[in-house]
Amino acid sequence: MGWIGRIRLQALLEADIGTVVAVADPDPSAAAAGAAAADGSLAVADLDELLRLDLDGVVIATPSALHAEQSLAALDHGLAVFCQKPMARSATEAEAVLATARRAGRPFGVDLSYRRTAAAQRMQQELRQGRIGRVFAAQLTFHNAYGPDKQWFLDRHRSGGGCLIDLGTHLLDLLLWLLGDERLRVEAATLLQAGAKLANGSNAVEDFVAAQLTTASGAAVQLACSWFLPAGLDCLFECTLFGTEGSLALTNVDGSFHDFRLEWRHGTSAQLLVSPPDDWGGRTLCDWALRLQRGEGFDPELAAELHAIPKVIDAIYRYGGVQR
Ligand SMILES: NC(=O)c1ccc[n+]([C@@H]2O[C@H](COP(=O)([O-])OP(=O)(O)OC[C@H]3O[C@@H](n4cnc5c(N)ncnc54)[C@H](O)[C@@H]3O)[C@@H](O)[C@H]2O)c1
Repeated sequence: MGWIGRIRLQALLEADIGTVVAVADPDPSAAAAGAAAADGSLAVADLDELLRLDLDGVVIATPSALHAEQSLAALDHGLAVFCQKPMARSATEAEAVLATARRAGRPFGVDLSYRRTAAAQRMQQELRQGRIGRVFAAQLTFHNAYGPDKQWFLDRHRSGGGCLIDLGTHLLDLLLWLLGDERLRVEAATLLQAGAKLANGSNAVEDFVAAQLTTASGAAVQLACSWFLPAGLDCLFECTLFGTEGSLALTNVDGSFHDFRLEWRHGTSAQLLVSPPDDWGGRTLCDWALRLQRGEGFDPELAAELHAIPKVIDAIYRYGGVQR
């Protein structure tokens, strides 16, 4: 029942899918606030107490290092799980979670929320229709001028990493999902903290990453993300794909964290395809809740997509010499 937990709970309540039976947080005031929002729900302290209740599924929105172990515990109890991103600190942890979800046969989802923006959905349609021809390059950017305001984000043991695992996860998910490609090779990567190289063995996390990657089909990808960058705006977000017949550019509007637009570009001209408003934040969670309600099981295609992201993140950390 922290920041995103409360926001996603609200989205689930507004969508009126299923029943919120209980909310858990070790901070009693956070648990009580969640229970008050979901009328008739119980406030409990932890996952163990949740697992003693008769539930169909669990939504996890805790500090990132807890995601894998809490997902495993819930799946082992036969529950469906929806977890905040990142689903794990490493590809090895992610594999263990996905293998358990497969055995449990229950819906498993991760809050890779940007793919459910109207702009990303339209971008995928346009790509499938061949609007920009063969994609040969991509520009991925997510600079957050503020960065996290909670200490656990800055502690590698509790977060799994810095801005790469926090923001880069979304960028890599968009790219891999849009291209339908599960492999990226790392050509170069620089990870910095306060403008200097991360000290070996340090528990500090990176706040700036620049990486050059290549897709299996040979497209060149530039990825940059950061916290606390003097960007002159709250946020700079871009996912642009360049193709032989034009480009598709998904960008945020006026520094917003929430408003996105999609343009098709050709030479020096541009055509606006999607613009705000678009209330996208809770869609990935609601998709999962609907799958659960319909009695659906584990989705192997989604699992392959989920596994691809931590593999690339591991490779970037390895290339950057970050010991984890
Ligand atoms: N999908 C997205 O776009 C998106 C956006 C924001 C945050 N997130 C992710 O959501 C997660 C939470 O981020 P946040 O900003 O809400 O953090 P937060 O610190 O505000 O919230 C975490 C909450 O978890 C509680 N908690 C700690 N240990 C717990 C335990 N063992 N069991 C149950 N609850 C426990 C804390 O008391 C706190 O209320 C992070 O992993 C972050 O990466 C995802």
